[in-house]
Amino acid sequence: MGKTTLGMQFLTAKAGEPALFVTMGEHVDQLRTDARNQGFDLSGVEFLDLTPAQGDSMDLESYDLMAPAEAESNPIGERIGEIFKALRPRRVFIDSLSHLSYLAPDAFQYRKQVMGLLRYLTQHGATVLSAAEIVVEPANADELQFLADGIIDLSWRGERRLLSVTKFRGAGYVGGVHTIRLDGRGMTCYPRLEPGEHQRGHQRETLESGVPELDRLLMGGITKGTVTVISGPTGVGKTTLGLQFLRAVAARGERSVLYSFEENDQTLRCRAESTSLDFAEAEADNRFALHTIEPLRYSADEFAERLRDEVENRGASMVMIDSLSGFRLSVAGDDMVQRILSLCRYLTNMGVTVLVINEVANIAGETVQVSEEGISFLADSVLMLRYLELNGQLHKAIGVLKKRTGNFEKTLREFEITKEGIRVGEPLTQLRGILRGFPELVERSVDSDS
Ligand SMILES: Nc1ncnc2c1ncn2[C@@H]1O[C@H](COP(=O)(O)OP(=O)(O)O)[C@@H](O)[C@H]1O
Ligand SMILES: [Mg+2]
Repeated sequence: MGKTTLGMQFLTAKAGEPALFVTMGEHVDQLRTDARNQGFDLSGVEFLDLTPAQGDSMDLESYDLMAPAEAESNPIGERIGEIFKALRPRRVFIDSLSHLSYLAPDAFQYRKQVMGLLRYLTQHGATVLSAAEIVVEPANADELQFLADGIIDLSWRGERRLLSVTKFRGAGYVGGVHTIRLDGRGMTCYPRLEPGEHQRGHQRETLESGVPELDRLLMGGITKGTVTVISGPTGVGKTTLGLQFLRAVAARGERSVLYSFEENDQTLRCRAESTSLDFAEAEADNRFALHTIEPLRYSADEFAERLRDEVENRGASMVMIDSLSGFRLSVAGDDMVQRILSLCRYLTNMGVTVLVINEVANIAGETVQVSEEGISFLADSVLMLRYLELNGQLHKAIGVLKKRTGNFEKTLREFEITKEGIRVGEPLTQLRGILRGFPELVERSVDSDS
């Protein structure tokens, strides 16, 4: 479950601080081997082995080492006392308190013993972390909750390990469940993102795309520090359009970052090159970064942590998430909308401009679907790409469905991907039925149009 790893982490967190590991379950040799495999430096950690096999009489009387008054007359108590005087440990980890309950005759005795032990340790200047197998003895769970100043819950959800703080006396903490990872470097925790905690002043600037007709469609461009959703069916050019904005940001000398949940590095680079949206140069001087994310290997918490690193340590100014369906896979089981909302809120609080790619299922249908999940709620602007059939030929069109921060053109324009880049045409004013995907030419003379 990770309790022992967390204990090791706690004991070795501050180099040079004497620490004590009291084990009642696993043997010291095993603990040392495991800790070494996880890369912990045990030089400051002393072990006290209270496992039943260690020769000490394990009768209940001798286990009553917790009552300070009786500590002198109790062999294990004396051992603890000795080791305390010698070590003066600042950190103590007990693995686990549950083992005591097997030895205590009843809940009252158990509580008395645990309280005594904890008082003894804390009065000697130690901070105590203790493992407990709540699941094994729910009857004692309440007791432990009462005794502890803080409770850290470790659990599983499917393949994922989770951590949550359910009690923490005297200080604030981030609520909810957080992803943890256990590997060759011990435990890493990815705290849930709290958008409200982050704020950074920024100016409301307009970011041009660099394609004049597109900027005219947007009546200037997109607004810095807002969320733009690029919506459309597969293959229509959403990723390419996003790259155009990222490149424009890079051209301003700022850093833009693409998180690709869908395509691999190679595919993306090839297409960017073949459409004159090559980003190698910007990448070389840190104005661009491509991160390909394998959805099933990252949780939303880990993804948020990586995003924060980009924003807070590398100064990312624009972030593109390609796509929402890929992101959905990485939040498996969680509320996707809530997660993406809190990410976007964090990013815009920090003045970062966000592009979210949203793939819609219908290629040419009756409805203009922005998304099945109310994603339009998070969008300050929605750019829509769609296919349209004209004189028996397949064309693409681009339009703005929404822009909270200003005016925009209400007509569609033809959209094309060429090897020279994105090309946007003049407004398609002489067509009707565009939104349904079956446009017809409106019968009227060219001069009466303007
Ligand atoms: N060099 C090129 N010239 C013209 N069209 C291209 C070129 N490279 C890719 N495309 C077109 O770009 C489209 C893919 O764009 P993409 O941005 O990946 O779409 P989406 O992200 O919406 O799935 C395809 O329709 C493909 O035909
Ligand atoms: Mg794409």
